[in-house]
Amino acid sequence: MQRPRNGAIIAAMKVLGLETSCDETGVAVYDTGDGLVAHALHSQVDLHALYGGVVPEIASRDHQKRLLPLIRGVLREARIDRPDAIAYTAGPGLVGALMVGGGMAAGLGAAWNCPVVAVHHMEGHLVAPLLEPDPPAFPFLALLVSGGHTLLVHVRELGDYIQLGTTLDDAVGEAFDKTAKLLGLGYPGGPALASLAGDGDDAAFSFPRPMMNRAELDFSFSGLKTAVMIEVRKAEAAGTLDARRADIAASFQRAAIDTLVGKAVKAAERVGLDRAVVAGGVGANRLLREKMAECFPGDVYYPRLEFCTDNGAMIAVAGALRLADAAECREIIARARWPLASLERPARR
Ligand code: KG4
Ligand code: ZN
Repeated sequence: MQRPRNGAIIAAMKVLGLETSCDETGVAVYDTGDGLVAHALHSQVDLHALYGGVVPEIASRDHQKRLLPLIRGVLREARIDRPDAIAYTAGPGLVGALMVGGGMAAGLGAAWNCPVVAVHHMEGHLVAPLLEPDPPAFPFLALLVSGGHTLLVHVRELGDYIQLGTTLDDAVGEAFDKTAKLLGLGYPGGPALASLAGDGDDAAFSFPRPMMNRAELDFSFSGLKTAVMIEVRKAEAAGTLDARRADIAASFQRAAIDTLVGKAVKAAERVGLDRAVVAGGVGANRLLREKMAECFPGDVYYPRLEFCTDNGAMIAVAGALRLADAAECREIIARARWPLASLERPARR
């Protein structure tokens, strides 16, 4: 896959990307000639940590407060007064939070008289490795692992997606977060659980690898979560939870990562792909990266760590790749649900 270099898609254009689908306000400017020129992020994690999870109303209000100052700062850093186009996350996500980014894109698009592109959040994650110096070429297998999704996708080219597998219950990031909560690690628990797991024995508990031996490429994490809950309760009753916490974290992480990697390898063999992209928040997990390097029969591409979790840069680059779909913004699109496989290739000009 090529970056949209000067002239490859359209004459160099600067695209402002806005991400507000959940609890991170992300803003960036991507230049179709020079690549990423500026980006900024404000995380709401501290706000939501008080409640142990994302509170939608608080998320929307905080995006509202942060977005404009972040946009001003990023435009200043990019040394421009206005972009040539605006891309915003239109879903899937929290509708109120999405409306803040969509409303801002519509307002600025009208004021600046520039086109607006509605971006699919998971397509943003999918193209985030294009921001790196050695981007993957199409086709590839995508393992998209976040707090809301666990997807295996055959990516034939941009907008040509065949979903090979998804989760039947919890997303893997959600399973990390819920397990972390059981272990008293606060919110969001993924990174804290991964770090605690580093001190534990991953063979201490034999947790299930759900669906591993089935031919389908779907995932299920709720049984694993329940198995962890039973061990936590047992340890609590025996007064040994503090001593066993790291072992439980390590054994859970190992089971979850074995499942992801096992299915990714199976999927690549089935459709004959020797390249994979791993993206989304759980893509930051070190064990996942180690196990993919060990087991995946081919090259594996990742975004840099800061672009694994939600950010504006991935939305700006996805918008740049979809400039052909840009339009004068007449309606704000905000979709709670939006299947990735329903996307189409960008329009031809
Ligand atoms: O992509 P993302 O920022 O937001 C969504 O679109 O959901 O992903 C956030 C998820 C959270 O569930 C978080 O706990 C998880 O990614 N996460 C991790 C790690 N870093 C973030 N899970 C496991 N290991 C990590 N190092
Ligand atoms: Zn995300």
